[in-house]
Amino acid sequence: MPRPPTVRSSVASIVPKPGSPLVTRRLFVLVVTTVIGTTAVAADDPLPHVLDSKQIGAGRAFYGQYCASCHGANGKGAPNWREPNRQGELPSPPHNQEGHTWRHSDADLYEIISKGWRDPFNKTDRITMPPFGETLAPEEIRAVIAYLKSLWTDEQRRYQREESEKEPFPAEAKPSPE
Ligand code: HEC
Repeated sequence: MPRPPTVRSSVASIVPKPGSPLVTRRLFVLVVTTVIGTTAVAADDPLPHVLDSKQIGAGRAFYGQYCASCHGANGKGAPNWREPNRQGELPSPPHNQEGHTWRHSDADLYEIISKGWRDPFNKTDRITMPPFGETLAPEEIRAVIAYLKSLWTDEQRRYQREESEKEPFPAEAKPSPE
């Protein structure tokens, strides 16, 4: 069946010169975006905003730049993260489904990342989890958190969303209405 003229003309408007590498790349991006978008919507998960692939992509990049040195690639955590180290400090925990990050509400995660954190039972007083409130803008912190959410199971995401309904992001970091 021939394509309806409307589709052809809208494709024509974004395709300056058929066959050029730019065209191929644009079409590729178009197809990939469509596939990812469809997956996010089709997945059995009531959290489309959590699975916003663009936000997760941005968050993944921030994670690689600022967090992976301590928390490991793909949020796998430091080795022996459950045991205090020689200084009596807890090492960086994983953020994936093996860890407990998913137990924290949006409000808690935002606070920990922007203000820093130390385990109250650490033998030292230093803030072992550094604050990022001066380095990352509110929407960048939100993007990192979206990336962390992408590492969890559906069930963990559901639990965390319920916690976040009680304790949402602070006003300064409220997502803009969708
Ligand atoms: C210098 C090392 C270091 C860097 C860099 C770092 N963290 Fe941490 N982080 C830690 C340590 C250590 C802890 C555990 C603190 C404790 O419980 O004593 C921690 C704890 C956390 C927690 C709370 C524990 C949990 O699993 O929920 C979150 C959330 C977190 N980090 C997120 C991040 C994010 C996001 C970044 C990057 C923006 C980051 N961290 C960068 C060392 C680091």
